[in-house]
Amino acid sequence: MQRQCAEYAKLGLMGVTVLYASGDAGVAGSDGECLDRNGNPSSSRNTKRFVPSFPPSCPYVTAVGATQMVSGASVNDAEVACQDSIISGGGFSNIFAMPSWQQSTVEHYLQTYPPSVTSANYNTSGSRAYPDIALNGAKYLTAVLGDWYPIYGTSASTPASAAILSAINDARLAAGKGPIGFINPIIYSSGFQGAFNDITKGANPGCGTDGFSAHPGWDPVTGMGTVNFSKLLAKWLALP
Ligand SMILES: *[C@@H]1O[C@H](CO)[C@@H](O)[C@H](O)[C@H]1NC(C)=O
Ligand SMILES: *[C@@H]1O[C@H](CO)[C@@H](O)[C@H](O)[C@H]1NC(C)=O
Repeated sequence: MQRQCAEYAKLGLMGVTVLYASGDAGVAGSDGECLDRNGNPSSSRNTKRFVPSFPPSCPYVTAVGATQMVSGASVNDAEVACQDSIISGGGFSNIFAMPSWQQSTVEHYLQTYPPSVTSANYNTSGSRAYPDIALNGAKYLTAVLGDWYPIYGTSASTPASAAILSAINDARLAAGKGPIGFINPIIYSSGFQGAFNDITKGANPGCGTDGFSAHPGWDPVTGMGTVNFSKLLAKWLALP
């Protein structure tokens, strides 16, 4: 995992933005698996230690969670963390230490909105927290073998986010500037406050717990919030 994560860092230095889906099983592993109290994989889905997803918990990738519209709401109403069909993945790594660029943001969350889960459930030593951002992950109308299906998941919110960030690269290249590359330090910086649509409702339950909850500001369910193209474009075009 450390070797692979270091390779993503090299891609970032080359100007490539690497996004990863934060997972569709909340605080559990991709098949809903959890760890026992010794940290070993458990076949029971109700042992209470969480499974941080990898690669999204690598600090050198940008982890993307999923949101959804509230049933009956309009497109102008705030989205919530996706809990319909899939549960937006998030949490704290058991391998990677917390990078300096997210320390004050994550500490603000932990102090202002103390999670109901504890060190019995997740790594509280100060490790890489994810996701970083989010986007709608619900009801992507998708044709499969001639029929239409509404598809859910962070595997949908992630490429949609990549398309938006690619459009920002396009505008920067047209202005004679370089690509945005590794974006995590800048999106957590004070200059990017308010550049995301903050998601404050929903949670990512799993492993027999309520998981973490979305709150104002960053949270381990929807990160900084959903990507707003026009706001991010203005911020990134203002940078050298
Ligand atoms: C918690 O995370 C740190 C990395 O920040 C790691 O060194 C440590 O082994 C982890 N602890 C457990 C119990 O997984
Ligand atoms: C994105 O930001 C722009 C500019 O502030 C705002 O007009 C627009 O409503 C935002 N879009 C969404 C989907 O929130």
